[in-house]
Amino acid sequence: MSIIFDEQRQIFNISTSNTSYIIRIFQNRLLLHLHYGKRIDNLEGIPDVPLNGSLSMSAHAAGFDGRVAIDVLPQEYGFYGTGDYRTPSFLAEYEDGSRISDFVYDGYQIVKGKQLLNGLPSTYVEEESEADTLEIYLADRLKGIRLILRYCAYNILDAITRNVIVENNGTECVKLKSVMSVCVDFADMYYDLTRLQGAWLREKHIEKNPLAHGRQVIDSKRGASGHDLSPFMALSRKNCDEVQGEVYGFSLVYSGNFEGSADVSYSGGTRVNFGINSFDFGWMLNGGECFTAPEVVMVYSDEGFGKMSRTYHKLYRTRLCRGKYRDKKRPLLINNWGATHYDFNEDKLILFARRANEVGVEMLVLDDGWFGKRNTDNCSLGDWYADVTKLPNGLNGLAKRLKEEGMSFGLWIEPEMVSPDSDLYRTHPEWCVHVLGRERTLSRRQLVLDLTRNDVREFIKDFMRRLLSKGNISYIKWDMNRNITEAGSQLLDKANQQEFWHRYILGLYELLEELTLEFPDVLFEGCSGGGGRFDAGMLYYCPQVWTSDMCDAAERMKIQYGTSMVMPASTMSSHIAESPDHHNMRSMPLETRADISLSAQFGFEVDIATLSENEIEIVREKVKLYDEIWQTIQQGDMYRLASPFEENCCSFLYVSEDKSEAVLMFYTLMAVPNSQGRRVMLKGLKPDGVYVEQQSGKKYSTQILEDYGISFPEDRDFKSSIMVFKEI
Ligand code: DGJ
Repeated sequence: MSIIFDEQRQIFNISTSNTSYIIRIFQNRLLLHLHYGKRIDNLEGIPDVPLNGSLSMSAHAAGFDGRVAIDVLPQEYGFYGTGDYRTPSFLAEYEDGSRISDFVYDGYQIVKGKQLLNGLPSTYVEEESEADTLEIYLADRLKGIRLILRYCAYNILDAITRNVIVENNGTECVKLKSVMSVCVDFADMYYDLTRLQGAWLREKHIEKNPLAHGRQVIDSKRGASGHDLSPFMALSRKNCDEVQGEVYGFSLVYSGNFEGSADVSYSGGTRVNFGINSFDFGWMLNGGECFTAPEVVMVYSDEGFGKMSRTYHKLYRTRLCRGKYRDKKRPLLINNWGATHYDFNEDKLILFARRANEVGVEMLVLDDGWFGKRNTDNCSLGDWYADVTKLPNGLNGLAKRLKEEGMSFGLWIEPEMVSPDSDLYRTHPEWCVHVLGRERTLSRRQLVLDLTRNDVREFIKDFMRRLLSKGNISYIKWDMNRNITEAGSQLLDKANQQEFWHRYILGLYELLEELTLEFPDVLFEGCSGGGGRFDAGMLYYCPQVWTSDMCDAAERMKIQYGTSMVMPASTMSSHIAESPDHHNMRSMPLETRADISLSAQFGFEVDIATLSENEIEIVREKVKLYDEIWQTIQQGDMYRLASPFEENCCSFLYVSEDKSEAVLMFYTLMAVPNSQGRRVMLKGLKPDGVYVEQQSGKKYSTQILEDYGISFPEDRDFKSSIMVFKEI
C-alpha cells in the first residue's frame, strides 16, 4: 500500500517510489499540508504545526491559540471566509447571499486502484495494484457541503493525481464560484515558475521567471486551453536544470478555461492552485447533486526537468492515451493541406497518394475543402457531405480508389463549427453560441456550435456516425479553428449561464467518448489551428495531436522542445512540409525537415510529386529510418540534451526501455564561423554497455557516450544528424 494513515500522529503519508506527500489532521479539525518532495518513511520528529514565528494581524481558527494563524498555515485546501487571505481553492455563494465556508475534517477512506471521473478524462490503471487512492472528506456542517479531496499515488511512477468532488448534502442551492482541483502550500518562495507560452505558429515556448510576492497566474478564458498558455506549470529550485535539482510539475487534464496560480504571501509561503478558471465560472449545485473538478497530475523530480518530463511521458503515453493505437506503430500518412489547400480533385489526390505510396506512405488524409461548397474558409462548415465537383464519386469512391492504390483513407473535419454561409446555419441559426440581441462575432469567418445543447450534440454524433460507418475512414483529424465569443446558451436558465464554459467542454468530451468507443479502429488526431487545444484532456481521446501549423524546422524545434515538457513524442504529429515554409518563407534542407519530424510522430504534408529524384531518395531513406526507430521514439525515454531556447542548436535523445537502442538527434540553427562544434553527452544508457553506431559501424562504450560525448560541427545553417546506437 503506498498510502499509510499513521493513527497516532494523525498523518497521511502518500508515497510513490521516490516521493512523499504528507498531510496532518490537526486537532481533528484542520487539514494541514506538511510535505511534498523526496520520499520520507520515518516520521520521527515531524512537527505538529508546520510554522515557526509569531504573526500578528492573523486570524486564528475557532478554538485555537495564536499558533494557528490561518492566513499562513500550509493548508491542504484553502477556503474563503475565516481568515485565510490567500487565493481560496474553494469559493461558493449560498442562498442567504453569504460566501463564507468553514470546512473541518470529516473522515477518510483508502482504497486500492484508481477511479475514473464522471464525464471527464483522467489517467487510469489497468490493474488495481498499479495505484492506491486516498479520499479525505471535509465538511461545512452549517451548509451541508462535503468536499472529497482525492489523491491517487501510482506505484510504478512518481506521479500523484488529485481532484476534488463537491457534494451538496444540504437543501439549498449553492453557487460554486471556484473549485480548484489542487492546492499545495509550499513553505517558501525560492522557486522559479515555468510556463509554456505561445501563439498560433509558435506554441509552447518555455518561459521561466522567479516567483515574487503576490499572485502570478497562467490561464485561459477562450473556451479552450488555447495557443497562448498551456494548462501546465512547474515550480523549480534555482539550481534546477535538465538533469539536477528539484522541480514540481502540475498538469491539468482539461481542455477548457483553466487557471493556475502561485500566490506568494507576505510571510513568504507559496500557494499553488490549479483547476477550472474561476473567471466567469458559476455552477448551481442543488441539494443532492455533486460537482467533479478535473484531475491534476503532480510530478516531483529531484533530477531536474528531464526526469519530470519522462514521468509525464510514460504516464500519459500508457495511462492517459487509450485505444488500439496507444502502443502501436501509427500509419505513415500524407496530408494534402500543405500541398493543395482547397485546390484538389479526386484524380489529383490519387496521383498525390500514388507518389507517396511509392516511397512507403500508407495513408492519405484529405484535409479541409472536401465538403459543401468549400473553396475558401468563408463557407460550408456544418454541411458535411462531399463536394461532387471535387469528388464525383464521393468519399467512398475516393476511399475505394485509394485502397486500390494500397492506401488507407483519413479525413479532416471540424465538427464543433458552423459557417454563417451554410445550409446548417440557414436551418438552425439558433444552434451557434450566441447571446440574443447581440451581434455574433466571427473568427476565421465561422461560429461555434453550442455543445451544451443536446440537439446539437446529437446532430454531430449523427453525421459522424454516418461518415464513419460507411466512409472506409481509418483516421479523423478533429480540428477546431476558433475560440468562443458571446459565451452563453439559449437553453440554460439565467442562473446557469456561467455554467456554459464547463458544460461546453463536458459536451465535447461526451462526443469524443462516444465516438472513439463506437469506432475503436479509427485513429483520432486532435487539432486546433495546430496546437491550440493540445492538452492532457484531449489525449484521453486522441493519442496524437497536430502540434502546430508551423512546419519550418527551426521553429518546430522550439515548439516540440517546449511541448515535450509534458507531452510524449508519440502524441506530437510532425510532418515534412514544403520549403520555403508557407508561413515564414524560410528555406530548409529536406533532411532537416525530415529529421525534426522523425523526432515525433513522423508524416508528410509536402507534395512528393514535386521532389527531385535525389530528394525522393532522401525521403525513401527517412521512411526506412522511421521503420527502424519508431518504437524507440514513441516508447523510449526522452532526454533533452541541448535547448534551442538557450543555444544555437537543439538535441534530443531517445533510449529504448530495455536500453538496447539509442537514437541521437542533433540540429544546428545558424552556422557558427570557426566554431569547434558542440559536444553532447548521452544519458540513460546501459551501465558498462558497448554500442555500435549504425551508419559508421563504430563502437562506443557507455562511458564514452555519456561522459565524453559525441561532437557535431556547427558549420552549416540548419544542418541535422540522426545517429542510431545499438547495444552489442
Ligand atoms: C488548421 C489546421 O491546423 C491545419 O492543419 C488545417 O487542417 C487547417 N486548419 C484547415 O482549415
